[in-house]
Amino acid sequence: MNARILFVCLGNICRSPMAEAVMRHQVEQAQLSDRIEVDSAGTGDWHLGHPPHEGTRKLLDQHQISHQGMKARLVTSNDFSAFDYIVCMDTNNLRDVRKLLSDTDGNREHARLFTFMELLPDKGMADVPDPYYDGNFSFVYELVESGCKELLKRVRSDMNLN
Ligand code: 4NP
Repeated sequence: MNARILFVCLGNICRSPMAEAVMRHQVEQAQLSDRIEVDSAGTGDWHLGHPPHEGTRKLLDQHQISHQGMKARLVTSNDFSAFDYIVCMDTNNLRDVRKLLSDTDGNREHARLFTFMELLPDKGMADVPDPYYDGNFSFVYELVESGCKELLKRVRSDMNLN
């Protein structure tokens, strides 16, 4: 069994593409690229087709993590069946994804849906703060790096790879 992971945020240019790139990098380092697929999408349509935000690209470049070819797209009802894990960067994204799910007939076979910060309960935070507004991409990177490690552990365990 393979695992497919989708990260979701609002614009799909700051937080979820950062999580996608970092997760893919960790999966590559674990030599699991043929078993675990990673993607990201947004609930808002302002930046469709755009590459990740400059702030996200800068952090990824600093850590020598590729963001080549990444482009913003919208989350769709097909994603519920196309992915096994849908990880929302904040509680508003979770609400919007749940609404899309409730509006969708069919597609009842769907992904495990949760927020990114559920992976880091010790932080006591509900949301990954949006750096589009506060510019704090470094803090988001720290959260993303730790959360992706936890997610990889969880996925490995679900796949009986431990
Ligand atoms: P993201 O950040 O959801 O982490 O990609 C945002 C990007 C763009 C906008 C809001 C948040 N926007 O309003 O355009």
